[in-house]
Amino acid sequence: MADLVLDHLTIQYGDVKAVDDVSISVASGEFLTLLGPSGCGKSTTLFSIAGLNKATSGSIRMGDKVLFDGATNTFVPPEHRNIGLVFQSYALWPHMTVAENLAFPLKLRRLGKTERDERIAEALKLVEMTRYADRYPYELSGGQQQRVALARALVYRPSLLLLDEPLSNLDAKLRERARVWLRELQERLNVTTIYVTHDQAEALAVSDRIAVMSMGHLRQLGTPKEIYERPADSFVADFIGSSNFLAGRMVQQEASHAVVELKNGTRLRTAPGQARSDGSLVVAIRPERIEIVPELCENSFLAEIGTGTYLGSIYQYHVTIADTELRIQTARELPPGPVHLRIPPEATAVYAEAPGEY
Ligand SMILES: Nc1ncnc2c1ncn2[C@@H]1O[C@H](COP(=O)(O)OP(=O)(O)OP(=O)(O)O)[C@@H](O)[C@H]1O
Ligand SMILES: [Mg+2]
Repeated sequence: MADLVLDHLTIQYGDVKAVDDVSISVASGEFLTLLGPSGCGKSTTLFSIAGLNKATSGSIRMGDKVLFDGATNTFVPPEHRNIGLVFQSYALWPHMTVAENLAFPLKLRRLGKTERDERIAEALKLVEMTRYADRYPYELSGGQQQRVALARALVYRPSLLLLDEPLSNLDAKLRERARVWLRELQERLNVTTIYVTHDQAEALAVSDRIAVMSMGHLRQLGTPKEIYERPADSFVADFIGSSNFLAGRMVQQEASHAVVELKNGTRLRTAPGQARSDGSLVVAIRPERIEIVPELCENSFLAEIGTGTYLGSIYQYHVTIADTELRIQTARELPPGPVHLRIPPEATAVYAEAPGEY
């Protein structure tokens, strides 16, 4: 069952559409991530679900309850939405202990002392912070404060959990551990969760599905695998992982493949795809999918290995193919000099627009 439905949601500030006609349906218990570059509308979307801003048009439904509907001017205030929210800055109240921080939302909801104490104990146990109940925020590390912020969002058992970059203040190692822990906790509680991040590795690692946004638009909604392996457009291909783009022109389009003429006149067999009305297009290929072959064959090019970068588990090199500089990634170190590179047709995607042309 869909737990949360955003239907043609638009949020406008002056003449800027921070969120532009976004429709997303989130299943019960699902972990959905809003992913996109800074300013693309992630927080604005999240805040409108929480009721911290009011959308311009469209609707938001949670279960069978309408939270917002522009057409009927329905707006449920945030305190009646039963939604847990964790902000990027975890903002615990500094003058309250951990237990007092957790008690606050329960007092607002007029729960009695016995039930408050039970719920606080339960929430602290969930985030493994029981021992710290009487500490003040300044006596905790950043990661511990982050856990308390999460406990505070969970303590009143929200129907929906909204997390806006909740791990952004942790170092890389701690962040990686925290996201595994967060995902396990979310599964255990089976609480529908919307997670905001601009970190694509994090999104790929934790999400059931990812909604990729840019400039207020929803570019693609899919599982991490779908998003990575079949990007809907060149923006997604560029933003998730990395891709090389070769400009060309459509020569032949079949159901199974296409033939593209690159800028310097060479022809490339590719996956079928889209071109503009004048035939122009870009071919996307991921650096790790370009193959090194012993001799020239179909779809292969003579290239010169340029500058290299050691990235820990892989090497990345700059090479020039058909007048275009590309990046390739290999498991082993390559000596400088000529090399034969092959672009496997099945590893390509063909788009009418280059990234940045939207
Ligand atoms: N209250 C507001 N008034 C005017 N413009 C706003 C307001 N809130 C957000 N915006 C604009 O809406 C756009 C989307 O902002 P939003 O905060 O949703 O971005 P974001 O995707 O969360 O980015 P980040 O990753 O940097 O947090 C931005 O261009 C921002 O300047
Ligand atoms: Mg934001």
